[in-house]
Amino acid sequence: MKLVFATGNPNKVMEVNDLLGDLFDIQSLKDIGCQVDIPETQATIEGNAIQKAQYIVDHYAMNCFSEDTGLEVKALNNEPGIYSARYAGAAKNAEDNMNLLLKNLSDQTDRSAQFRTVVALYLNGNMHTFEGICKGKIIEQKKGDHGFGYDPIFVPEGYEQTFAELDKTTKNEISHRGKAVRKLIAFLKENS
Ligand code: IMP
Repeated sequence: MKLVFATGNPNKVMEVNDLLGDLFDIQSLKDIGCQVDIPETQATIEGNAIQKAQYIVDHYAMNCFSEDTGLEVKALNNEPGIYSARYAGAAKNAEDNMNLLLKNLSDQTDRSAQFRTVVALYLNGNMHTFEGICKGKIIEQKKGDHGFGYDPIFVPEGYEQTFAELDKTTKNEISHRGKAVRKLIAFLKENS
């Protein structure tokens, strides 16, 4: 089955392709000639995921899925949440985002946090959503050089290493995105 993955983020494409294997014929935005930075203007992670998939439906009328992820930090009232990508400004710079988060958490003892992903799937006229959560904590200094985004400061529950220190197979097994995408795969297997 042909499915468009509505993301411009090559790290996400890599992680999701590792999970999907050869099960589906995944088309990137580039494959379908879409060069737009698809708007994400909703107030929730779910809303943004649906907005991105709906954009492809409206402009290309194709079956597709998208995903949106936010880092929710308990001591910061679940921020940065939907602002995770542009936490330190419109440049969407991962180093700046991590530095600001570490600064804002510097006087906090509760460093618990979670990544939350929502995958929105548009299949044959209907929209479906799948959620994945990975709980953990924000450490005080960056460690590791794998992965992307906030990976160097996030240690998942039950582990000592950050996502940026763990290998990609382990990250996919326990991550927010891995969990949401496995729900997507189960649904697609039942419904296609
Ligand atoms: P978005 O889903 O592309 O809007 O991503 C929101 C923000 O969270 C961006 O700054 C990403 O770099 C970051 N992010 C998304 N997924 C992950 C992840 O798996 N690890 C670390 N950071 C992530």
